[in-house]
Amino acid sequence: MCLDMLRHKKKVLLLLLLMATGSIIYYLYTLKLERERDANVSSTTSRLEREISELQAVFESEVIPDLGALGRPARGNWTQEELEAMATSQRETGYNAWLSKRISPERTLYDMRHRSCKKLEYSLEKLPSVSVVITYHNEEASVLLRTLSSLRNRTPILLLREIILVDDGSSSVDEKLNDFIQIKFLNMVRQHRIATQVGLMQARVAGAQLALADVLVFLDSHVEVTKGWLEPLLDPILKNNRTCTTPIIDTIDYENFSYRRGKPSRGFFNWEFNYIQLPLLKEEAVAMPAPHKNPIMNGGLFAIGRQWFSELGGYDKGLKIWGGEQFELSLKLWLCGGQILEVPCSRIGHRYRDGKFQIHYTDKDKKKENKIIAKNYRRVAEVWLDEFKDKIFANMPHLTVLSVGNLAEQRELKKRLHCKPFKWFLDNLAKDFLNLYPIIDPAEYASGVLQSVSSPKLCLDRNESRHEHPKLSPCSSDHVFPRAEQHWILSNRRELRSGLYCLEVRNQGKDVRIFQCHGQSGNQFWSYDSKTRQVIAGQMSNFRQCLEAQPKTNSVTASVCDPKKSSQQWKFGYQNNQRLSHFWDNVKTQ
Ligand SMILES: *[C@@H]1O[C@H](CO)[C@@H](O)[C@H](O)[C@H]1NC(C)=O
Ligand SMILES: *[C@@H]1O[C@H](CO)[C@@H](O)[C@H](O)[C@H]1NC(C)=O
Ligand SMILES: *[C@@H]1O[C@H](CO)[C@@H](O)[C@H](O)[C@H]1NC(C)=O
Ligand SMILES: *[C@@H]1O[C@H](CO)[C@@H](O)[C@H](O)[C@H]1NC(C)=O
Ligand SMILES: *[C@@H]1O[C@H](CO)[C@@H](O)[C@H](O)[C@H]1NC(C)=O
Repeated sequence: MCLDMLRHKKKVLLLLLLMATGSIIYYLYTLKLERERDANVSSTTSRLEREISELQAVFESEVIPDLGALGRPARGNWTQEELEAMATSQRETGYNAWLSKRISPERTLYDMRHRSCKKLEYSLEKLPSVSVVITYHNEEASVLLRTLSSLRNRTPILLLREIILVDDGSSSVDEKLNDFIQIKFLNMVRQHRIATQVGLMQARVAGAQLALADVLVFLDSHVEVTKGWLEPLLDPILKNNRTCTTPIIDTIDYENFSYRRGKPSRGFFNWEFNYIQLPLLKEEAVAMPAPHKNPIMNGGLFAIGRQWFSELGGYDKGLKIWGGEQFELSLKLWLCGGQILEVPCSRIGHRYRDGKFQIHYTDKDKKKENKIIAKNYRRVAEVWLDEFKDKIFANMPHLTVLSVGNLAEQRELKKRLHCKPFKWFLDNLAKDFLNLYPIIDPAEYASGVLQSVSSPKLCLDRNESRHEHPKLSPCSSDHVFPRAEQHWILSNRRELRSGLYCLEVRNQGKDVRIFQCHGQSGNQFWSYDSKTRQVIAGQMSNFRQCLEAQPKTNSVTASVCDPKKSSQQWKFGYQNNQRLSHFWDNVKTQ
């Protein structure tokens, strides 16, 4: 029995021993698995880290800390080779792309908002969130990264639902850049590629269709947003959901990336479909920085309710590539029951290109593009300007010979939304515009030859051979309708114009020159005193000079005015005394 019991005990002990070893072995095994898993996890983490730092090396390794910080001009002690590299990049792209790579994507900007903007408080829970839609075609990586970083760094995260990045058929796909954007901005950025370029408007509409937030913000890919940019853009939309808002557009210099203050303004187009900016109305200037009406948006940067944008049908699908789309959307907004407000508390910097830069097109491509733009203009005029389209066509007769395509959908939309006629826009938003750009041009103040009284055989001549210095030459026989080089107009803009050229004074009045009319008064402002017969340069009364004939050299100068000098006396071929008697109406002279 005893033995039996003993044997039995042994069995139990053996069993216990086996169980203990088993659990020890199992324990050791799980320990090993855990270690392995840890090793696996840490190897993926380090792989991710490696990838980030590899991509960072590709896109950000040339960054020089603090260069261009606070939006200051990016200055450096550049070597000769570096200066040459800058010049080359500027020649190729119209801005200093070489320098852009060296400015941090996270650079800081000076807060240049009006001081009362900084005191405004918004309740973030009440404001709608936004989908930012950015379209681009062949954008430089460092420029795009700075646009995205500025958005991430200066937008309340609660309001920024997503950034939709639409690549509109860039000539090559930069996989590395796309990966870097995905890693750097995590799930904030959604990328969408359109394989073949469809143009700004359709790319934007494609982005809008992907958007999930209630408000769309359209931006260019070469901007930097500033502190507090978004909240004031959203506030007016919250109050009226048919409002579209635009920020003040500041300038990022194309040469040194300095951030410069832009002015509040009211946009329009003139009768040749150029975008122009007019100053604020008096009451608007007084109410600054409260939002004010913006008749025509600049086009690149604006916020609009997603539903309202879709009710308006986005952009006219017949508009291609670019050109005229900002006129179309603005007119549609105002005439179909909405409004556009410029919001001075919201500032976004935009990098323009060098005005002298020309994209290297072939002549054929250039012609093709011009034709597309012209067709866009014609569509906008046909659909939205009613009888006033004739004013545009008189200035741009080439539009009338183009095929305009099918307008049925646009006309149907206009009817469906009960849109008002263009006359309403002119009556309500364009009083000052019509003073500057009247529908019926009033007669010019004077025209024909400008004949010297002291040397009556000689007339002012714009000297076709070299558009620099005007000269005196023997007068045409017909003083009212002389040959083109002697045909001068004292225009409604108060300039002395011959064709596209205007007389101007340079170098503090030492020099009288011929230059393209710039339409900005200043050194191209001229008046005629029919009593003293003086032709006078200068708008402000304390700085005026008189045109003086120098018959010995067949030239003219601008000299101290002296009514007794007959060399300062001139006779127009035709002068409209009725108009001249009102020459100084509404002109600032002090
Ligand atoms: C660790 O990774 C290897 C290969 O990558 C895999 O075979 C193994 O099952 C992984 N181990 C664990 C515990 O996840
Ligand atoms: C600029 O660089 C040159 C040559 O490298 C050097 O001699 C000069 O001292 C530098 N100037 C400044 C202000 O750093
Ligand atoms: C920056 O460039 C602009 C020209 O694009 C120039 O007017 C300005 O003076 C430059 N600023 C500096 C500090 O060089
Ligand atoms: C504006 O808001 C009203 C009231 O909530 C709503 O009925 C309407 O559909 C909205 N319209 C747009 C264009 O968002
Ligand atoms: C007009 O142009 C010619 C040819 O370039 C030039 O020699 C002449 O000086 C110009 N006349 C005046 C008055 O400047």
